[in-house]
Amino acid sequence: MKSISDGARGAGDWDSLFYKAADDFFLGCEGSALTYDDVSLATLYSEILPKDANYDTRLADGLNLHLPVVSADMDTVTESRMAIALALHGGLGLIHYNMPPKQQLSEVSRVKNHVHGLIREPIKVHADQKIGDVLTLIEEKKFTFSTFPVVDESGRLLGLLPGHCVRARFASRVVGEAMVKRPSVLTIREDELGGDPIARADRFFTDNIGIHKLLVVDKDDHLKGLFTLSDIERISQERSLQTKPARDAKFRLICGAAISPPRLPDGALDKDSLLAHVGAMVERGLDAVAVSTAHGHTRGVGEAVRAIRSEFAFLPIIAGNVTSGAGVQFLAECGANTIKIGQGPGSICTTRVVAGVGIPQLTALYVCSKAAESCGVTILADGGITKSGDIVKALTLSHAVICGSLLAGCPEAPGQIMEINGKFYKQYRGMGSHAAMKAGSAARYGHGKDINRKSAAEGIEALKEVSAPADTVLAQLAGGLQSGMGYLGAANLTQLRANARYTRITTSGLRESTPHDVIEVKTGNAL
Ligand code: XMP
Repeated sequence: MKSISDGARGAGDWDSLFYKAADDFFLGCEGSALTYDDVSLATLYSEILPKDANYDTRLADGLNLHLPVVSADMDTVTESRMAIALALHGGLGLIHYNMPPKQQLSEVSRVKNHVHGLIREPIKVHADQKIGDVLTLIEEKKFTFSTFPVVDESGRLLGLLPGHCVRARFASRVVGEAMVKRPSVLTIREDELGGDPIARADRFFTDNIGIHKLLVVDKDDHLKGLFTLSDIERISQERSLQTKPARDAKFRLICGAAISPPRLPDGALDKDSLLAHVGAMVERGLDAVAVSTAHGHTRGVGEAVRAIRSEFAFLPIIAGNVTSGAGVQFLAECGANTIKIGQGPGSICTTRVVAGVGIPQLTALYVCSKAAESCGVTILADGGITKSGDIVKALTLSHAVICGSLLAGCPEAPGQIMEINGKFYKQYRGMGSHAAMKAGSAARYGHGKDINRKSAAEGIEALKEVSAPADTVLAQLAGGLQSGMGYLGAANLTQLRANARYTRITTSGLRESTPHDVIEVKTGNAL
């Protein structure tokens, strides 16, 4: 080991004494485990502007993200709305499994069939309805629009009721008298939308001056959706700022779903029902299945991963959770492509308190990254991410992060908003909490279905303050990630991993890292 008194040194030599590459740093901390707030990253010479830093990541063959963020497979985080928001921003949503298999299939379908900007279930009216009834509907539902497609009983398009006819003076007249009749309504067939429906709709509105609605029909003229000019203009504007959506080879948004290995009454893996359910999701276009449990280095998880791999040779399999190199190797040998790392770092987790096990997350990532490298698999940093700086630190050792708490307050997360003392909250609960285990996730924590208050919960039920929509939250996280990459001179995530130099910080260092000795009047959106 070098010492300060060794002969002459260049300015850079001092850096390497204090700011260490991953192997030197973590081996130097041998015997003690660290997490995000225990370290800080050193800056390096950079020619990379944050806006030019590219954070594309590959999790498995055919599973490529343009934002290395995955939303947690939790029943208060990811259903189709959240998965759509993630994929639109380049990430991946993992639909949770605390729901009947049939419902999970529909959630997957919703993501795979989502066309951004296309309103799939537009409000329709009927030709024999009074215009007065339409006015009542607008008032009751507080619609901010007054133009409606007119359809018959079977959903076939009959015309378009223009907003300028929806007036009180025509209240007693029927829609059929006022509508623009079918031959004069401009439409597009859904199979003509092509690979980029937004661009197609945008072209339509440019070509057809004064038209603000584009109706989409199938070959039998049934209404299948509508685009509005204002939506298309907003999306086109956002597009130039946003990262690319994560799509499959057929240009559909990507979607993942979690499963918990089903068991027969004697405890054996119910292979038939596992494979039937995964098969049904694959048929609907599923891009990755996650075998999600609290302890992934187990015979049960291994059997499930092996069974899925033997039936679906090319389906990306995410499996976990583990925190050891042996755990990574085990799941990789069973056929998993991407391993979830994290036992106990989550904001709602109590595994370490209840069971006394688990490893502070950054050390777990380091140890697992070494095994992953030699096994040719990728890893996900799952849990404990509370700000964008944690994502930068996590990605120096992993290929993407999984976020629960950071997304649970978004409107796209499942659950109702509740008001408490003038503030707005959403429920956020651990999948190992009593309530979530009762709703279906007990097996994830090694319990049977008969959950009662005596079963040891490994998660809590909590609230999250309602936050901005997911696209705002994700944009802030992406911006923070790009800043970190800029400071480290990293044009991409491979360079981020290679360039990272760590130093340990003390509690005073941590205090210095956050706003201090001022009265904060406006937060800096520091997620
Ligand atoms: P964050 O910190 O993003 O963590 O809220 C989300 C991750 O936490 C894990 N998870 C749990 N871990 N008991 C646990 O020990 C639980 O009840 C629980 N619920 C979720 C999970 O890995 C998730 O992605």
